[in-house]
Amino acid sequence: MKISIRGKIFLAFTIFIGLSALIWARSYYSQYILNQKIQIIERKYDLFNAILEARRYEKNYFLSFDRKNIAEALDYVNQAEDILRNILKEYGKYTLAKNLDQRIIELVTYKESLADLIELQEEGHLVAPPESIELIRKQGRILTSELEKIVKKESEFTRDLIGKSQTIHFLALIPVFILSVLIALFLAFNVNRPLKTIENAITKIARGDFENIPEIKSGDEFESLVASLNNMISELNKRSKQLVQAQKLASLGRLTSGVAHELNNPLNNISTSIQILIEELEENNLEFKKELLVGAEKEVERGKEIVRSLLEFARERTLTLKQVNFLDLVNSAIKHVKSEIPKNIRLKVEVPDNIQATVGLRIRSVIINLIANAVHAMKDGGDITIRAYNESNKDGFSFQVTDTGEGIPQNIITKIFDPFFTTKEVGKGSGLGLSIIYGIMEQHDGNISVSSEVGKGTTFSCFLPFNQPDQRDL
Ligand SMILES: Nc1ncnc2c1ncn2[C@@H]1O[C@H](COP(=O)(O)OP(=O)(O)O)[C@@H](O)[C@H]1O
Ligand SMILES: [Mg+2]
Repeated sequence: MKISIRGKIFLAFTIFIGLSALIWARSYYSQYILNQKIQIIERKYDLFNAILEARRYEKNYFLSFDRKNIAEALDYVNQAEDILRNILKEYGKYTLAKNLDQRIIELVTYKESLADLIELQEEGHLVAPPESIELIRKQGRILTSELEKIVKKESEFTRDLIGKSQTIHFLALIPVFILSVLIALFLAFNVNRPLKTIENAITKIARGDFENIPEIKSGDEFESLVASLNNMISELNKRSKQLVQAQKLASLGRLTSGVAHELNNPLNNISTSIQILIEELEENNLEFKKELLVGAEKEVERGKEIVRSLLEFARERTLTLKQVNFLDLVNSAIKHVKSEIPKNIRLKVEVPDNIQATVGLRIRSVIINLIANAVHAMKDGGDITIRAYNESNKDGFSFQVTDTGEGIPQNIITKIFDPFFTTKEVGKGSGLGLSIIYGIMEQHDGNISVSSEVGKGTTFSCFLPFNQPDQRDL
């Protein structure tokens, strides 16, 4: 049978509450009975004491034959009768010694015998006959001993009852305890565990790991929750694949149109030059023809340059890794671009000399390219700062190239790493610089990111591991 979590919890708590109510009712009942018993014992003691008093006066009478004693004795016997009738009426159900009726008969007979004594006296007999004295004494004795027995029995029974009710209370707590443990275990297994599984799966999703959650066959809300989550994960998976595909297509489109555009210009120029040369073939203007040929050669050079950049972009050359001091690498890069940095741009280097790493030398061209881009972004001058610091906890180091240039608008910042994306005029930029840098960083198991504010400047942040896995080829 499949029960929902809500159903299971409801069931568990209903059992728990039902059991508690039973225990409570039971305990209330035994308290009530005990209370009755204590009252009965008190009444029975009163009864016993009344009879003892009556007997004391009876004894005194037989010593002194003073009528007053008999009257007192009768008084006490009447009291005792009242008490006994009262016990029968009020506590009949709860009292022990069901033969209390018999005691009433005895009490009444005793009373009558006492009354007979008074009558005898009134008739002038000063001393009672020995047989009636004996009878009264016997009746009194029986009554006292019977009542003593009753009181004793009732006390013993009550003491027993208290003991028993303590045991019952203790025993009743055992199922409550077991049930509490069972409920705790139930919650741990049926609620806590599935929640943990789902939590882990969601943490994974947040990390970009779209893996299905293992199914839970509990038949409750968790089963359907996991099913819906898995649905969502598949949907996310599909969407993200579509997105990647769309991005790839867009990049490819930009790449193709970039190549076409870049190559078209020199090819057009060459084509025009050749056409003119064909037309002018017969003419004798050598100077002009040479000019055309030199022009065509320049265009071929430009075409070759574009192809070279493309190859650089696409290449997977093998590079020998080298153990370098990063500060040396930065200085060597700066030396390379120094001549191209205008006077109104200041270059600051904040790189400690204790960053040792094994990298490919292409990292140098990363720095050169980033500096070149920064220079292009600061037509009116500014500062370029190169910073670096060890990140030993990540087993690598970071470096940043910051400029105070024009910045990158938000709407193009996601495109700047795409091949052929450039905002520079034709002939000035190929749009390949950052995409090549991106590839180099990836090859090094590193990464690059950008933050920029229009009008304030741009920072490119890079991370590189200290060591490349098993000195593999780059
Ligand atoms: N430091 C920078 N400041 C502002 N814009 C930048 C910076 N670096 C790169 N960019 C933008 O990114 C584009 C792509 O750069 P890149 O790939 O190096 O190609 P290119 O320099 O040939 O244009 C640049 O055209 C420019 O718009
Ligand atoms: Mg560039």
